Amino acid sequence: MDNEIASASPPHVLIFPLPLQGPVNCMLKLAEIFCLNGLQVTFLNTQYIQECLLSCTNIESYFQRYPSFRFETVPDGLPEDSPRTADEILNLLDSMEAVSVPLFQEMVTSGPYGPNSEKPITCILADGIFCFAVDIAKQIGVPLLYFDTVSTCGLWTYLCLPKLIESGEFPFKGDDLDELIVNAPGMEGFLRRRDLPSFYRTKNINDPIIQLVLNEDRHLPLAQGLIFNTFENLEAPILSQMRKICPKIYPIGPLHTHLKTRLATGGTTSNSIWKEDRSCIPWLDMQPINSVLFVSIGSLAVMNKDQLMEIWYGLVNSGTRFLWVRRPGSIVGLEKEFEIPMDLSRATKERGYIVSWAPQEEVLAHPGIGGFLTHSGWNSTLESIVEGKPMICWPYFVDQQVNSRYVGEVWKIGLDMKDTCDRVIVEGMIRELMESKKDEFLQRADHIANVANASVNKGGCSYKNLDRLIEDIKLM
Ligand code: UDX
Repeated sequence: MDNEIASASPPHVLIFPLPLQGPVNCMLKLAEIFCLNGLQVTFLNTQYIQECLLSCTNIESYFQRYPSFRFETVPDGLPEDSPRTADEILNLLDSMEAVSVPLFQEMVTSGPYGPNSEKPITCILADGIFCFAVDIAKQIGVPLLYFDTVSTCGLWTYLCLPKLIESGEFPFKGDDLDELIVNAPGMEGFLRRRDLPSFYRTKNINDPIIQLVLNEDRHLPLAQGLIFNTFENLEAPILSQMRKICPKIYPIGPLHTHLKTRLATGGTTSNSIWKEDRSCIPWLDMQPINSVLFVSIGSLAVMNKDQLMEIWYGLVNSGTRFLWVRRPGSIVGLEKEFEIPMDLSRATKERGYIVSWAPQEEVLAHPGIGGFLTHSGWNSTLESIVEGKPMICWPYFVDQQVNSRYVGEVWKIGLDMKDTCDRVIVEGMIRELMESKKDEFLQRADHIANVANASVNKGGCSYKNLDRLIEDIKLM
C-alpha cells in the first residue's frame, strides 16, 4: 500500500443511503456540502435509484461542479418491476442483504476503494438501518458514521423500544391507544400509544419490523458518530438523550436549507426520482397570498379509494384552494373506469390543481401556499418548517406518527389528524388552519422558521455542528 499517496489525498467518504427518495435526497445534499469542503465522496446508489435519478434529474451537474464526486452502483436484487414502496421495505432490505451487501463489502475491502487501492475510503457514512456497516467498517479499519434521515424524535422512539419491552409497556395491553407512554424519556406527558410508529401496534414481539428496530438499536451506538437532520432548538430534549448513547452527535439540519447557505449561488439541484410537473408554479402565481393548501403524501405512503374520497370531499367542502400531488401508484384499489363525481370535478376545476409530482421545496416556498396537508415524512416536515407553513398531519408509518404529535402538541404549528379520515374532520381542520386560526398558526410557524434558518447560517448551531463534523472526518 502506498501510504504516502493515501495520506496526501483528501479524506474519502463513502455514502450509502437507504434507496428511497427521502434518504437519497438528504444524503446527496450532505455529499454536496462535503465536496464544497474539500472531501472526496463516493455515493453508492442501487441501480434502480440511479436510473430514476438519471431519467428525472440533471445528475451530470454533480460531476461538472465537483471533480471529487462520483457515483457507484450496486443492484438491489429485486426484479425490475417489483414495487419499492413502503409496504415492501422488508423485501427490499432482505434482497439488499443478499445481493448488494456482498458487493459493497468487496468494493471497500479488495475492490476499487479497499485499503490497498488507489482511492481507499477513509470513512463510511451509512443509513442507520444498515447494521452490516459496523462489521465492514471494522474489517477495513475505518470509522463509521450513521445518518438516520428520519426525525430524531422518531428515532428516539426506536431506541426506547428495549425499555418499553422490559417495563411491559410494549406490546400494548388492551386497545386504548390514548394511554400515555411512560418509558420514553424526554417525551413524558404528551406521547400516547397512538403517537408511536404504527408498527408498534402489533401484539407480536417477533414481528420482523420490531426485530429490525431492535437490531438497529444494538448497532447505532457502535458508530463513531450519529448525524441528524434536525437543529438544536427544535429537538433539544431528545438530542440530550441521544448524547447519552453516543457522545459524538451532529445535528446539522435542516439540510436542504443548509446546502443553500453553503453554496455561493444559492440554487440547488433537484434530486427527485420522479419527473416534476412545473406547471403548478404558474398556477400558484395566480393565487392570492397564503390561500392554497398543498396536499402531498410523499414518496412511499398510499391511500385507498375511500380515503381518497374523504380527503377530496373534505377539501372541496372547505372551500379552500388546493394543489394536490397524486403520485402514480399512491392510490390503491382504484378501478380504471372510476368516475369522478360531478361536484368534485367541478370544484376541482374551479379552485384546485392536481399534478403527479411537484417541485415540493419550491412549492412550499411559494407565497401562495398557506398550509400543507402532509403525511409528516421528515423531509416534508422540515421543508414546511423552514418556509413557515402550518401543517395538517395525516401520518402513515415509521417516524410519521411521532412527527405529527410534535407538530400538533409540542411545536404547535399544525393539527394532527392521525387515525381518522373523515370528510367532516378534514373540512373542519382545513377551515381551522386556513381560516379561523390562520394568523395564530402562521405566527408560530414563522417564529420556528426564523430559528431554523438562523441555525444554518454562519454562527448557528447546525452550521457549527457541520463544520465540526467535517473537521472530525478530516482528522479521522
Ligand atoms: C420516508 C419516510 O416515509 C419518512 O417517514 C421518513 O421521515 C423519511 O423517509 P417519504 O415518503 O419519502 O419519507 O417522505 P419525506 O421524508 O417527506 O420525503 C419526500 C421528499 O419528496 C421530500 O423531500 C419532498 O420535497 C419530495 N417531494 C414530494 C417532491 O419533490 N415532490 C412531490 O411532489 C412530493
